[in-house]
Amino acid sequence: MNRKTFLTTAIGAGALGAHVLKAATEDTPSAPAAKPPPAARLSDLLCLDDVEAVARNVMLPSAYAYVAGGAADEITLRWNREKYREIRLLPQALRDISALDCSTTILGKKMSTPIILAPTGVQALTHPEAELATARGAGAFGATMVLSSGSNKSIEEVMAVASHPVWFQLYVFRDRGLSRELVERVQAAGAQALCVTVDSPLDGARNRQMRTPYELPPGVGFPHYAGLRDAYTIQTLDTVRPANLLWRDIEWLRSFTKVPMLLKGVMNPADAGTGLKAGADGIIVSNHGGRCLDTLPATIEVLPRVVEAVAGRVPVIVDGGIRRGTDIVKALALGASAVQIGRPYVYGLASGGADGVTHVLKILRQELLMAMSLLGCPTIASIDRTVLWK
Ligand SMILES: Cc1cc2nc3c(=O)[nH]c(=O)nc-3n(C[C@H](O)[C@H](O)[C@H](O)COP(=O)(O)O)c2cc1C
Repeated sequence: MNRKTFLTTAIGAGALGAHVLKAATEDTPSAPAAKPPPAARLSDLLCLDDVEAVARNVMLPSAYAYVAGGAADEITLRWNREKYREIRLLPQALRDISALDCSTTILGKKMSTPIILAPTGVQALTHPEAELATARGAGAFGATMVLSSGSNKSIEEVMAVASHPVWFQLYVFRDRGLSRELVERVQAAGAQALCVTVDSPLDGARNRQMRTPYELPPGVGFPHYAGLRDAYTIQTLDTVRPANLLWRDIEWLRSFTKVPMLLKGVMNPADAGTGLKAGADGIIVSNHGGRCLDTLPATIEVLPRVVEAVAGRVPVIVDGGIRRGTDIVKALALGASAVQIGRPYVYGLASGGADGVTHVLKILRQELLMAMSLLGCPTIASIDRTVLWK
């Protein structure tokens, strides 16, 4: 097998990620750095770091670099995780937790957990079924997924296999006419919300990715970019031409978008206020998983100030560095309505396709329920700042 064929190979029965492992070992001269846990089944992977270790071993080094990497020195990428670890919890003993329930309601829709799959592009690098496997895995669990503009499967293909809500993440193109057509297309296909990414007029200095650039597998494309004459952004050593998205574009999008519109990538509390004036129905605090501007603060540091600026008018969702149920509790305690995860489910996808995605969600739900029980918080609504050690 070579790179040309690995993405069309079915998932190996039994062995985790066998579809990519074989290709990775045959195609790459050097052995991957991380050793997976001695696991043959998803159920042996007990936490998200276990899942990443398997994924790292089965993915092509270039695909792993694309997923795992951040911008520049990856300081923000590191802070996103570290800052959760610095927050300590404070339990309340002997509370009635008999009616334990981690369901919640976001934008009027009930969710079985406050966990959403963040948009991540180019999933064909990770698994041959790409976003279709993610949609199946999310559906089997009952989670909402956000489909990236940069997906390798189209919104129509994803909706055909989805059994739970799908939101669509929009990169606004230079060609505003095509952008409008895309919004109308995804609405017609059944996307239940639009997440407009506002943090990346360009990619940032993704040195790790640039050192090991990925190649798209043959036959794989970007179905939502069809018709684009001009690249979304142009970045070379000689030219930097960012996409130019302005607040008036948000107002323009709001004028014809029928589904709720969230702004993804808000890191400045003032921008949250401006976003609400422009018509946003939700704010996603995100630094793009540390992939754009390095040395931005961790999202969990920024969250309380954005929550304050929003003052309960719309839901605030946060992503970046969430790897444990306790991280979710901390985000909710600081005012988030829900969280998104990015890399963890992509590693689940690499490790076990749709089942791997479901497995990652189950680990997080179990950890969330355990943390709620141990803190004395039976419901999502009962999680507030009193669970944080000052
Ligand atoms: C491989 C990868 C691809 C991504 N692609 C997109 C994208 O197409 N659009 C977008 O708005 N964010 C994208 N993101 C950012 C995620 O939506 C999310 O903000 C981030 O992954 C959260 O951090 P975490 O990976 O630590 O959970 C991507 C992230 C990763 C890791």
